[in-house]
Amino acid sequence: MALLQGLALGAVSEVVIRPAGPADLWFLERMLCWAAGWRSDELDESLLAEAAVSRYVDGWGRPGDFALIAETSAGGESVGAAWYRLFGAQEDSYGFVDKKTPEVTIGVEPGHRGGGIGRALLEALARSARANGYSTLSLSVEEENPALRLYERVGFERRSQGGRACTLVLLLD
Ligand SMILES: CC(C)(COP(=O)(O)OP(=O)(O)OC[C@H]1O[C@@H](n2cnc3c(N)ncnc32)[C@H](O)[C@@H]1OP(=O)(O)O)[C@@H](O)C(=O)NCCC(=O)NCCS
Repeated sequence: MALLQGLALGAVSEVVIRPAGPADLWFLERMLCWAAGWRSDELDESLLAEAAVSRYVDGWGRPGDFALIAETSAGGESVGAAWYRLFGAQEDSYGFVDKKTPEVTIGVEPGHRGGGIGRALLEALARSARANGYSTLSLSVEEENPALRLYERVGFERRSQGGRACTLVLLLD
């Protein structure tokens, strides 16, 4: 499997980014729980029982689904993932913009945050989306989530506001 990127991250071990395969679904579910439960220091796998959460991975492998895994180059340990999925308007996903704009989900294991893995995943995901013919990516983030700063640094712009969350869009050149 092609390695898309090698990242030397100082205190963090070197990480490579690779496309996800069917065997990575468990890890996408795990990262989804971190993303949905971002306020907590404890992983809450019960969140997968909520349809509003599980819709980001249910039936993984449908047309348009694409995911990247960040793993340590030394041990091949998965430490982060970012992916996108297309939704229809009737599915009522949090960051829905239109049927042609895949929605992004991202999570990094707590012990590996703050070292550039999230940014590398988002940039690689944007390159993949562009190569796959998409013009935009979207996501939903709560105002208090520090991830909002990362998204804006990568180039996501505010599209709409709904309560405590906002929808961001990245234009792919
Ligand atoms: C958001 C997240 C994927 C970023 O990955 P990362 O590897 O930590 O990101 P980077 O090191 O490339 O960038 C650092 C930035 O990430 C964000 N960040 C750092 N720690 C974070 C944390 N614990 N929670 C949320 N965002 C965090 C901040 O914007 C930070 O920038 P800052 O230094 O200006 O505050 C990761 O922190 C995470 O999994 N957080 C919890 C899950 C989550 O919030 N997912 C997004 C839901 S919309």
